[in-house]
Amino acid sequence: MIISLISQKGGVGKSALARLLAVEVTKAGWTAKIADLDPAQGTSTKWKARRDSAGLQPDVAVEKFRTVDRALKEADRYDLLILDGPAHAEQGGKVMARASDLVVMPTGYSLDDMEPQIEAAYELEEAGIDPASILFVFCRAKGSDAEDKAARSYLRKARMSVLDPVFPELASIRQGHAEGRAASEVPFTKVQEKVIEVAQEIVDQLMKRRKEAA
Ligand SMILES: Nc1ncnc2c1ncn2[C@@H]1O[C@H](COP(=O)(O)OP(=O)(O)O)[C@@H](O)[C@H]1O
Ligand SMILES: [Mg+2]
Repeated sequence: MIISLISQKGGVGKSALARLLAVEVTKAGWTAKIADLDPAQGTSTKWKARRDSAGLQPDVAVEKFRTVDRALKEADRYDLLILDGPAHAEQGGKVMARASDLVVMPTGYSLDDMEPQIEAAYELEEAGIDPASILFVFCRAKGSDAEDKAARSYLRKARMSVLDPVFPELASIRQGHAEGRAASEVPFTKVQEKVIEVAQEIVDQLMKRRKEAA
């Protein structure tokens, strides 16, 4: 199976989600690999180096790829291939999305974050991607319930599906990333529970898509 993380903007939380998903599905017994398709940043690759130096378990496979096509050759070797895309993927994003069972598009609550992401989703749809395979996830989310509600309503009007749980912006997660941890590996149970729910629901959506496509 393949999940891609796509966004128009950088810094929205694609690599954070990639790491969370990789760690959680690996813990659940799947084999998984993150394909780091953002060579300019190499966020996931550098995180993997920190994870290894810290001796953290489980071991998570991360590899840098110059092209989406090369990354896709890995898909048969893993239960889940996670395509961690660059900002402004454009053509590459379409190739990623076409190969994927689920396209996850992280966004913040602000209009500045949501608008380019909605545009990117429309472009994927125009390129023939099934709208039902596109899932928005609020990431690096910081705001009131009212703000959450307004953002959901905005995305609904744009016909976008949004994941219920949100990936909160927290200093502990930032610190965890710096130490080679995924968000679910920070030393606070409440945070762990919250982000594990995000990973679980994304996997549920992935399985649902697989069933629909079969
Ligand atoms: N939930 C979060 N809480 C705190 N910091 C986060 C969170 N998600 C991401 N970050 C931090 O924000 C920055 C950008 O996130 P990243 O996942 O690398 O975005 P992208 O891959 O979309 O460019 C990184 O420094 C990352 O550690
Ligand atoms: Mg990234």
